[in-house]
Parts: sequence; structure tokens; C-alpha cells
Amino acid sequence: MQNLRELFENNRAWAAKIIEQDPAFFQKLAKIQRPDYLWIGCSDSRVPANQITGLQPGEVFVHRNVANVVVHTDLNCLSVIQYAVDVLNVKHIIVCGHYGCGGVKSALQGDRLGLIDNWLRHVEDIRDKHWPLLSRLKTQRQQWDNLCELNVIEQVMHVCRTSVIRDAWSRGQNITVHGWIYGVNDGLLKNLHVSFEDEKDIDMRYRDAVEKLSITVAR
Ligand code: CO
Repeated sequence: MQNLRELFENNRAWAAKIIEQDPAFFQKLAKIQRPDYLWIGCSDSRVPANQITGLQPGEVFVHRNVANVVVHTDLNCLSVIQYAVDVLNVKHIIVCGHYGCGGVKSALQGDRLGLIDNWLRHVEDIRDKHWPLLSRLKTQRQQWDNLCELNVIEQVMHVCRTSVIRDAWSRGQNITVHGWIYGVNDGLLKNLHVSFEDEKDIDMRYRDAVEKLSITVAR
């Protein structure tokens, strides 16, 4: 039986290296976690939150699922958001998509892959909502990239519209929701400039963000 010995060896070497730099590192972390960030990203193995942002264990609370989708009735994602906001008191929620997302591509093409189709239906809804914009793009690659970006913008809105965030904002809690996208080709993060720190003009600012994408498309 394959026992994945290599992974345990890697782990021991990693823990030893951390202790060498800071002998009390794990003791300190074991007592409390106080991350400033909640990361909502794709499960894609090429987009590990800690590594691409240079954050250490204890610094980012993470939720990942296929195509970084925030569904209003997903108890798992909602619980992560509620715990992050109400208990951990994170200052920033980052929804991070990525170019080359297989889930988004399947949604764009309407692929039949099995159970996952039901989950990706949420991304197909976004495709259909923005089809007037997407259909103006000449290549499927452009449509794919654009849908990856639109998906981030829509999921940012979903986070902002959860009862958890609306309640936090109405209490005056300092929390900002951001939309970023990561390039698996170059390893770089791009800010999509859809950041919300309150509900003020939220619909107008959402439309501006989508409009900005349409302008890029028109070029
Ligand atoms: Co993905």
C-alpha cells in the first residue's frame, strides 16, 4: 500500500525549519489564531492562498470550493464567513478567482461532468446574465477570461449581500470585501477594483465594475 511517506518526510522537514527560525512558533499559534484575512478561492491546486500571498500559518482563514462560488444557501461557506466575521474579526474578505479556471470553462461550455454540473449551474447563471457582454468577444479564450472576472465580481456581491456582512456593516464593523484574480500563467494577482467597505452605492458600484469590463471588451 502506498503510504505517501514522502509527504510525512516533507512535513517533518518543514516543521523543523520553522522551529529553527522561531522555536516558539507552534506554541504561540496553538494558543490562538488571529488572521486579518478571509480568503474565498478556487479548489484548484495551482492557487494556494498562503503561498501566493506570502502569508504564514495563522495569517489567513481559508474557504475554497470549485470556481470560488458563494451561494446564499451554502451552509458551509456561510458558516466560514460568519465565523471569520463574528468570531475571528477579520478585516478583509478576499474573493479570489483565477484565469484558466476549469470550473468556469465547463460552465461556459455547458459541459456534462456529473454531480459537479449542479454546482457549476451557479456559474452558468452568471454566463447567461452577462451573455450580451460575453457574446461580443471573438474567441472562446476571451470569453473564458472574462467569465472568470465576472464570476469574481458576482461572488463579491454575494458576500456583500449575506446577512452576516450586512449585519456587521450595520454595527459599524470595519470589514472590506475585495475581488481579485490570479494568473496561473504568471503567478500574479490582479485587483479587479470591486472593494466594498459598506453598503453605500453598492449597486451603482457593481454596475460600474461590470461596465469597466465591457469597456475593456469593446477595445
Ligand atoms: Co478554478
